[in-house]
Amino acid sequence: MSDVPRTTADFRSDTVTRPTSTMLTAMAEAEVGDDVLGHDPTTQALEEDAARLLGKDAALFMPSGTMCNLVALLTHTSPGDQILTEEWSHTACFEGGGAGVFAGVLTRTLGSARGLMDAADVERWMMPRSEHTPGTSLVCVEQTHNFHGGVVMPLDGLRAIRDVAHAKGARVHMDGARMFNAVAGTPGSTAADHAACADTVSFCLSKGLCAPVGSLLCGDVEFIAEARFHRKRLGGGMRQSGVIAAAGRVALREMCARLTDDHARARRLATGIAAIDGYSVDPTCVDTNILFVETGDLVAAEIVASAAAEDVLLYATGVHQIRFVTHHDVTDAHVDRLLGILQRLVS
Ligand SMILES: Cc1ncc(COP(=O)(O)O)c(C=O)c1O
Repeated sequence: MSDVPRTTADFRSDTVTRPTSTMLTAMAEAEVGDDVLGHDPTTQALEEDAARLLGKDAALFMPSGTMCNLVALLTHTSPGDQILTEEWSHTACFEGGGAGVFAGVLTRTLGSARGLMDAADVERWMMPRSEHTPGTSLVCVEQTHNFHGGVVMPLDGLRAIRDVAHAKGARVHMDGARMFNAVAGTPGSTAADHAACADTVSFCLSKGLCAPVGSLLCGDVEFIAEARFHRKRLGGGMRQSGVIAAAGRVALREMCARLTDDHARARRLATGIAAIDGYSVDPTCVDTNILFVETGDLVAAEIVASAAAEDVLLYATGVHQIRFVTHHDVTDAHVDRLLGILQRLVS
């Protein structure tokens, strides 16, 4: 459990976080039923918590963020529709092509500066259905944007995209896998402020929030009823899911406020790396808990191997690029150990 500090410094992802002792106790004591039959009180309570927090009518618990995004696509679209999303979005790049395989949609990806999709670009590509063009029924936004380095989309930019989509008769789905990092990274904002920029929102409990499993899809009552059908069709109906939902309830209650610690540590790491000749990263672009570093002449895979030998785990995202992620199990001492290794490798 994550109350016991790890000696291994693991910067690969916030998905490696472990449940806290409070979560494990809640899991052991969870009241459960059969959620497919609609009788698991802990899962229902988690869904109510999530919907309330995001200011939506209803929510649906699923095993993963990938399944939430896929169920959202299946519920919002019809085969042959076009969806718009950013070119490095998780949905376009890292979900096994599920949008095409299972929902039968054409994914049109839009380039952007730092993952910040532009409403004018979205408007340009919102093709109406015609003899020649597929209709565009959905725009997907990612908050925070993982592969642009945990970038937070500003609320006014998100609202502009929503308004353009709605004006053209399309809906907006927010892949908010790390939306609570976005909330923490947008001073004065609430989860409901972010969620109001989209018709539906998915978010993950199992990343920075440290729950072992689970994500939620939130939207209006009619949407969630249809989403429930698609979840079951995909085999995502879970029976005594209250056991894992209990950890999720603790995550929402106790783990959101501390995300600012992870963000501060990510900025400290970026500042430390920027001060070492040979690596390139802009600390002012670190909005949340993710940073991408260019490794210059050094081969990323060799850095990963050298670090692993000193019990520091890293994730190469290119021949000369590494992604670093801070989270609950990353300490200041881990950051110092990593900086020492990076410094030695260029010396
Ligand atoms: C932005 C984003 N969306 C969705 C997902 C998918 O989540 P899961 O791993 O729970 O399927 C991830 C996973 O890292 C992600 O980073």
